[in-house]
This record gives sequence, structure tokens and C-alpha cells, in this order.
Amino acid sequence: MTLHNRYPAIADLKARARRRIPHFVWEYLDSATGDEATLARNRAALDAVLLRPSILHGEFTPDLSVTVMGRTYPLPFGIAPVGMSGLVWPDAECLLARTAATAGIPYGLSTVATRTPEDVAPHLGDDGWFQIYPPRDPDIRADMLRRARAAGFGTLVLTVDVPVASRRERQTRGGLTNPPRLTPRLAAQAARCPAWLAGIRRTGMPRMRLIDSYADAATALPSTAHAGYLLRTSPDWDYLRQIRDAWDGALVVKGVLDPDDAAPLQQAGVDAIWISNHAGRQFAAAPATASVVPAMRAATDLPLIVDSGIAGGLDILRMIALGADFVMLGRAFHYGLAALGEPGAAHVIDILRADLIANMGQLGTHRLSDVPGRLIR
Ligand SMILES: Cc1cc2nc3c(=O)[nH]c(=O)nc-3n(C[C@H](O)[C@H](O)[C@H](O)COP(=O)(O)O)c2cc1C
Repeated sequence: MTLHNRYPAIADLKARARRRIPHFVWEYLDSATGDEATLARNRAALDAVLLRPSILHGEFTPDLSVTVMGRTYPLPFGIAPVGMSGLVWPDAECLLARTAATAGIPYGLSTVATRTPEDVAPHLGDDGWFQIYPPRDPDIRADMLRRARAAGFGTLVLTVDVPVASRRERQTRGGLTNPPRLTPRLAAQAARCPAWLAGIRRTGMPRMRLIDSYADAATALPSTAHAGYLLRTSPDWDYLRQIRDAWDGALVVKGVLDPDDAAPLQQAGVDAIWISNHAGRQFAAAPATASVVPAMRAATDLPLIVDSGIAGGLDILRMIALGADFVMLGRAFHYGLAALGEPGAAHVIDILRADLIANMGQLGTHRLSDVPGRLIR
């Protein structure tokens, strides 16, 4: 029985993942903010995107490659940065970096991951994307960028949709603290998930190790320094310009939903715009990302990356049809890991590839660049 027979869709991995990780971890991974309506909105907007099949195209030889920011990828998607990834599945950051390297797709490491850029470096292919939440202290910012660069991360992702912490009520009810502590209630949940617990015993209780490295270091910070203090700068356009000056690689701004921001971002020298509503985790009244892509496409010729709610290869085609160049997925890869360990993350890639091929066959398009022509307007 192959993995494709047992888990033909990402939904199958999601169902198995839910059984294999403690409830408070599930609530962290799966929740959004407020009434969580953004999750449903993302799904509804994708479902509303219809594509016109095309017939009699003869032998089908699909080419799934795309070129974005001067790089050609064999597949049009990558792994989005997920904070505390190693809480969801032990050592997730290294496992995902390795999976991405094998497939030749980008891996995004979060500022608030449980592994540092140096930890991940040996597993990273030649396309690491380092995601930065703006540190308050310019010296810490400079040091983070230097470390990311030295560890092999060539693309910098500045996330701008977390100007303040969001409420994430379901996550709070779940009982997750920072750093995570196994209270008796959470320990009882963990005891029912032996594979997860054994992994955590091996790796140690997950913490934000990059942040810790500054909180612990003899910096000029007050002794009360903690993740909140270190990162709670709300970036502005000046901050973006400083980041642009400080980073000589590709720079992507993540969490853009207003097409009016496209021109100023282009003027500020960014290399790509990442349309995201953070999987509904920041703002319950945010528009669905699929609904933003066409206007953003009309507003700029910068590459457009998009995420939030991608559940399969057809959704990737829908985003490309709307005008996106590249798609990222966060939770899907964590469902894969939590369901099956490292092979599960690779299986997510296989599912997406198979979906892309099957649906491109229906569209009669051999290349992804032909997909927008099949959009039913
Ligand atoms: C548990 C979780 C943690 C996340 N942490 C971060 C983060 O640290 N930095 C960031 O830029 N985005 C973060 N995101 C957002 C993802 O990068 C991405 O935008 C989102 O997961 C895409 O939606 P999807 O999960 O439906 O694919 C997080 C998402 C989840 C689900």
C-alpha cells in the first residue's frame, strides 16, 4: 500500500496529524484569530475560482517549473515560515529544510522558530529564506541578518502583518504559554501522543532559540529582555528602507493585502510581494488572499507570492490563474510531519505535484504560464 493509496489528499494527513499531536499543539497550529472567519473566507474565495477545461491537446508533458526572482524552481510552491515549528513536530525545522532541499523548493525559517539559522544550516539547500520579525534593537537586527546570511539564507522575508500581537483566542484557551510549559493538563494531553512526546524528550522542550540567544547574551538590553521586548517594534517605511540597505540578497515583504502598497514597496526596492493574511491568524476581517491577487497583479509587475489556505495543487493553479507567480504553504507541511514524520513532508510535495499534473491535464496546459488563460472571468 503506497502513501498515495492511504493518504491521497492533504486532508488525510491533517486528520491523522490531529490524532498524533497534543490538543494544545493542535490548537496552536490550526487556530486563527477572533471568530476565525478569515479561514472560511480564504476557502470560499478559492472555491469561487473556476478554470475552463480544454480538450484535444494530444500527448501531455507538463512542465511545473517557474522562474521567480531570477531563480528557476522545479515546482511553483515552497514552505512558509512557521514559528515554533518544532513544537508541532520535534525538529520540524531541520526536517523541513531537508525536504525542501531535496525537492529544490524554498524553505522559510521563522525568527521565532525553535531552531537557529546555524542549527538549520547543515540541512539547508541553496535556497533558504529567513523570515524576520523586526527586532527593536538595531544591533540585534544587524546581527540576526549577519547570522542568517552566514548560515546560507539568501532571501530575506520581512513580515509586516504583525504590527501588534493578535488575540488568537482558541490558542489561548488551549493553554500554550511562551516558553511552553507542560502543566498537568497539557502533560495529560501529551501522554496520549507517544510519538510526539518521545520526540520532544529527545529534542528538549521547544523554545525560541534565536530570540533566547539574544535574551541570554550580554547585550545592552535591560535584564528583563524577552521575546516581546526584543521584537515588539512595529516596522514603518523607514524601517523597510533600513532593511533594504542592510541586506544585499532578495528581499520579500510578507503580509501585504492592499494593492495601494504595491507601488511604494516597489519604490522601496523590494524584490517580491507576498500576499498573505497569515492563515487568518492576525485579523478576522482580512480579505481572502485569492480575492486580492488580481488587483495586486494589476498594480505591479513585481513577482507575487501568495499563501493562506492552500489545500491542494488545484488551489495553487487557481492562485496562478489569478496572477500569482509562486505559492507558499505553512500548515500543510506540518500536517504531513505530524502525520508521518519526515516522509510526510515529502508526501505533501508528492500530493501537490500529482494534483498539479492531474488538473493541468484537464486544462490542456503544458506550462504554468498558460494557466491564467484558462481563468473563467
Ligand atoms: C502555527 C503557525 C505559525 C506561524 N508563524 C509564522 C511566523 O513565525 N512568521 C511568519 O511570517 N508567518 C508565520 N505564519 C504564517 C505562515 O508563514 C503562512 O503565512 C501561513 O501559514 C499560510 O497559510 P497556510 O498555513 O494555510 O498554508 C505562521 C502560521 C502558522 C499556522
